[in-house]
Amino acid sequence: MAAPVDAQAPPRNQGCVTCHGDIEFLRQQARSLERARELLVSTGEVAASAHGEMACAECHTGYDRFPHPSRASTASCESCHEEAHSAWQESVHAGQENLRIVRCAACHTIHRVLPADTLRTPAGAAVMNASCVSCHEAARLPEGTAHAGKIGCAQCHGSHAIHAVADTRSAVAPARQYATCGACHDTIAATARQDAHGAAVMRWSHPDTVQLLTPDVVPPPACTGCHDAHRMRPAGTAEFEAAMVERCSACHEDYAETYLGTYHGKATALGSVIAATCADCHTAHRIHPASDPRSSVAAANLVATCGTCHEHARPAFVQYDSHPTLDYDRNPWIFFSFWFMNGLLLFVVVVFGAHTALWWVRLMLDRRKERGHVTGGHA
Ligand code: HEC
Ligand code: HEC
Ligand code: HEC
Ligand code: HEC
Ligand code: HEC
Ligand code: HEC
Ligand code: HEC
Ligand code: HEC
Ligand code: HEC
Ligand code: HEC
Ligand code: HEC
Repeated sequence: MAAPVDAQAPPRNQGCVTCHGDIEFLRQQARSLERARELLVSTGEVAASAHGEMACAECHTGYDRFPHPSRASTASCESCHEEAHSAWQESVHAGQENLRIVRCAACHTIHRVLPADTLRTPAGAAVMNASCVSCHEAARLPEGTAHAGKIGCAQCHGSHAIHAVADTRSAVAPARQYATCGACHDTIAATARQDAHGAAVMRWSHPDTVQLLTPDVVPPPACTGCHDAHRMRPAGTAEFEAAMVERCSACHEDYAETYLGTYHGKATALGSVIAATCADCHTAHRIHPASDPRSSVAAANLVATCGTCHEHARPAFVQYDSHPTLDYDRNPWIFFSFWFMNGLLLFVVVVFGAHTALWWVRLMLDRRKERGHVTGGHA
C-alpha cells in the first residue's frame, strides 16, 4: 500500500510540513490558537506511527496546492481497514443503541496510531488503556489487582467486537470466558470448563435454557463468578482466601453454614490461614459432586485430600463430617447429642425457672405477712 520511496525525491512530507509543522504560521492563518493546534502535525509522530511508511498525501488527496481546494479530501480509516471497520460496526461503540459513537481515532488517535504488535506489549497496552479509561473511569484496574499494569483492557473485552457485558456475544460473557481467559491461562481454563461449574455454565448459556434463568436462580460461576472482574486479587494471600470463602458461601449458603460450625470454619473465621477453606477440600477448578469419582471429596479420595494437611489421615479419620447437619440418618450422634443437650437446657430453664418463680412468690408473701404483722403492731 505504501508508495515506493524515491531516493532522489525531496523528503516525502516536506511540502506539507513546511506549513503544518510551523505553529507561528498556522496561528497567523487559522481563526484561533485552538484551531492552529489542531492543524499542527509533527512529522516525527507520523513517522513513528504504524503509518510511518506512508506519505501525507496517501491519506490526504488534493492538498498539494495552497490555499487547499474545496474538493480536497481525506480517506477514512475504514476505506483501508475494512475488516476492523466491520467488526467495529457491530459493536457497542458504533452507537446503535445510543448516539455516543466511539470512532476509530478515539482509541487509536489520528496520527500517532500504534502498530498492533506494540499494542500487545505491556507498554503499548498501557497507552491504549489510558484511552479506554478516559471514557470508562470507573473501570480502571485498581493498583495491586491481578492484571493492573500487566495486560490490556482489550485482551479481555476484545478490540473492535466489544459488546455490552450482558450481551452473549461479549468476550467476557460467562460461556466465552474459557476462551478469553484461556488465551493466557490455558491449563486452568481447560480444566475449569469440565468441572461441575463449567459444565453448568455451558448448559445454562445454551440458547434453549438461557431464558429459564430468573433473578431468583443462582447462576453457576464462570471464572469471574469466583475471581471478580476488575478487582481480581492475586492468589495465595489471606484476603484472597477470605474473599473466596465468602464467594462460595454466597451461592452455597447451607454448606457454608455447616462449614462455619466446624473447627476449620471457626479457625478460618478467626483469621487462620492454615485451616482448610472450601477450595482446600474441593479444589478450585476441578470441583465435582461428591458422588463423582473425580471429586476430591469422593469417599475414595478423602484420605489423599485431608492428607495434604493431616499427615496421619486414615480412613477412620476422614469419617469426620465436614458439613455436620442435624440430619438423623447422616449424623445420629450429633442428632442425639444436640437434642439431648438442648433438652437438658430446656429442662433446666423450665424446672429451675419455675422453682425460682415460686421461690420469689413465696418470698413476697412472706414479706407482706411480715409487714402486716409490723403495721398491726403499731395500731
Ligand atoms: C502553504 C502552507 C500549507 C501547505 C504547504 C499545506 N497546508 Fe494544509 N493547511 C494550511 C492551512 C493554513 C490550513 C488551514 C486552512 C483553514 O483552516 O482554512 C490547512 C488545512 C489543512 C487540512 C485541514 C482541512 C480541513 O478543512 O480541516 C488538511 C487535512 C491539510 N491542510 C493537509 C495538508 C497536506 C496533506 C499537505 C501536503 C500535501 C498540506 N496540507 C500542505 C497550510 C498548508
Ligand atoms: C493514515 C492516514 C493519514 C496520514 C498518513 C496522515 N493523515 Fe492527516 N489525517 C488523517 C485523518 C483520518 C484525519 C482526520 C480527518 C477528519 O477529522 O475529518 C487527519 C487530519 C489531518 C489534519 C486536520 C486536523 C483537523 O483537525 O482538521 C491535518 C492538518 C493533517 N491531517 C495533516 C497531515 C500531515 C501533514 C500528514 C503527514 C505528515 C498527515 N496528515 C498524514 C489521516 C492521515
Ligand atoms: C474501543 C477502542 C478501539 C476502537 C474504537 C477501534 N479500535 Fe482498532 N484496535 C484497538 C485495539 C485495542 C487494537 C489492538 C488489538 C490487538 O491487541 O490485537 C486494535 C487494532 C487495530 C488494527 C490492527 C489489526 C487488528 O485488526 O487487530 C487495525 C487495523 C485497527 N485497529 C483499525 C481500526 C479502525 C479502522 C477502527 C474504526 C473503524 C478502529 N480500529 C476502532 C482498539 C480500537
Ligand atoms: C490510505 C489507507 C489507510 C488509511 C486511510 C488508514 N490506514 Fe491504517 N494502515 C494502512 C497501512 C498501509 C498500514 C500498514 C500496513 C499494515 O500493517 O497493515 C496501516 C496500519 C495501521 C495499523 C497497524 C496495523 C498492524 O497490524 O500493526 C492500525 C492500528 C491502523 N492502521 C489504524 C488506522 C486508523 C485508526 C486509521 C484512521 C485514523 C487508519 N489506519 C487509516 C493504511 C491506511
Ligand atoms: C481480566 C479481564 C478484564 C480486564 C483486563 C478488563 N475487564 Fe472490563 N470487565 C470484565 C468482566 C468479566 C466484566 C463484567 C462485569 C462483571 O462480571 O462484574 C467487565 C465489565 C466492564 C465494563 C462494564 C461496566 C462495568 O464496570 O461493569 C466496562 C465498561 C469495562 N469492563 C471496561 C474495561 C476497561 C476500560 C478495562 C481496562 C482498564 C477493562 N474493562 C479491563 C473483564 C475485564
Ligand atoms: C470516547 C469514549 C470511549 C472510549 C475511548 C472507549 N469507550 Fe467503551 N464505551 C463508550 C460508550 C459511550 C459506550 C456505550 C455504552 C454506555 O452507554 O456506556 C461504551 C461501552 C463499552 C462497553 C460495554 C459496557 C456495558 O455496560 O456493558 C465496554 C465493555 C467498553 N465500552 C470497553 C471499552 C474498552 C475496552 C475500551 C478501550 C479499548 C473502550 N471501551 C474505549 C465510550 C468509550
Ligand atoms: C469455583 C470458583 C472458581 C472458579 C469458577 C475459577 N476459579 Fe480460579 N481459583 C479459584 C481458587 C479458590 C483459587 C486458589 C487456588 C489455589 O491457590 O490453588 C484459584 C486460582 C486461580 C489462579 C491462580 C493460581 C494458579 O494456579 O495459577 C488463576 C490464574 C485462576 N484461578 C484462573 C481462573 C480462570 C481463568 C478461571 C475460568 C476458566 C477460573 N480461575 C475459575 C477459584 C475459582
Ligand atoms: C493477555 C493475557 C491474560 C488474559 C486474557 C487474562 N489474564 Fe489473568 N493474568 C495474566 C497475567 C500476565 C497475570 C499476572 C501473573 C503474575 O503476576 O504472575 C494474570 C494473573 C491472574 C490471576 C492471579 C494469579 C496469581 O497467581 O495471583 C488470576 C486469578 C487471573 N489472572 C485470572 C484471569 C481471569 C479470570 C481472566 C479472564 C476474565 C484472565 N485472567 C485473563 C494474563 C492474562
Ligand atoms: C455464583 C454462584 C456459585 C459460586 C460462587 C460457587 N458455586 Fe458451587 N455451584 C453453583 C451451582 C449453581 C452449582 C450446581 C451446578 C449444577 O447444576 O450442576 C454448583 C455446584 C457445586 C458443587 C457440586 C455439587 C453440586 O451440588 O452439584 C460443589 C462441590 C461446589 N459447587 C462447591 C463450590 C465451591 C467450593 C466454591 C468456591 C470455591 C463454589 N462452589 C462457588 C454455584 C456457585
Ligand atoms: C474439610 C474439608 C471441607 C471443607 C473445608 C469444605 N467442604 Fe464441602 N464437602 C466436603 C466433603 C467431604 C463433602 C462430601 C460429603 C458431604 O456432602 O458432606 C462436601 C460436600 C459439599 C457440597 C455438596 C457436594 C455434593 O455432592 O452434593 C457442597 C456444595 C460443598 N461441600 C460446598 C462447600 C463450601 C461452599 C465450603 C466452604 C464454605 C466447603 N464445602 C468446605 C469437605 C469439605
Ligand atoms: C489446608 C489444610 C487442611 C485440610 C485440607 C484439612 N484440614 Fe483439617 N485441619 C487443618 C488445620 C490447620 C487444623 C487445626 C490444627 C490442628 O489442631 O491440628 C485442622 C483441624 C482439623 C480437625 C480438628 C483438630 C484435630 O486435629 O483433631 C479435624 C477433625 C480435621 N481437621 C479433619 C479434617 C478432615 C476430615 C479433612 C478432609 C476432609 C481435613 N481436616 C482437611 C488443616 C486442614
